[in-house]
Amino acid sequence: MRTVISADELRTGIASLARRLEAHYQGQPVTIVGLLNGSLLILGDLVRELRIPVEYDTLRVSAYRGEATTAGAVLVEVGHVPPVRGRHLLLLDDILDTGATLHAVTELARGWGALSVRTAVLLWKRDRTRAGFLPDEYIREIPDVFVVGYGLDYNRQYRQLPQIVEFDPSIPAARQGLPS
Ligand code: IMP
Ligand code: MG
Repeated sequence: MRTVISADELRTGIASLARRLEAHYQGQPVTIVGLLNGSLLILGDLVRELRIPVEYDTLRVSAYRGEATTAGAVLVEVGHVPPVRGRHLLLLDDILDTGATLHAVTELARGWGALSVRTAVLLWKRDRTRAGFLPDEYIREIPDVFVVGYGLDYNRQYRQLPQIVEFDPSIPAARQGLPS
């Protein structure tokens, strides 16, 4: 199993992100909206690490379809608008790859009446992100490799791993040291 980020490194990375967010928002009202399913674990760990009052909410979004490792159309759930009027909004996702997902959600969120709309991601594949879109906050840059664990999946599997590991769909999971 090729570990890209260990559980310990995740903890320290999330703690430093929390300190940057505390300094940025200075106790003003902030709502963190995590994009499901990928950001569920980091959302839970980040809000418990923050020492400022914070609300959190979620939005169901998907970009990858089934067994593909390339992005499909961005689908955002309809029917739920996080109540962020008069509050700062931080959109949180597991990874910024092409940027299509966060770009689409940011555009949508601009209509929700928040005081500001910013983005934070755990991982950033900077080389793959199309020009002009960058995350406001990120924990770690990674090269163009497919990774799973700590919320990130391959075909809905491996999200539960406590660390982030490289994954090659052409090699049986057991041979990569992954539960199968
Ligand atoms: P984007 O829209 O291209 O930026 O892709 C963002 C979404 O693609 C993330 O929320 C993930 O669901 C998925 N994704 C991108 N890269 C990876 C990866 O290496 N492993 C698992 N999921 C990924
Ligand atoms: Mg995702």
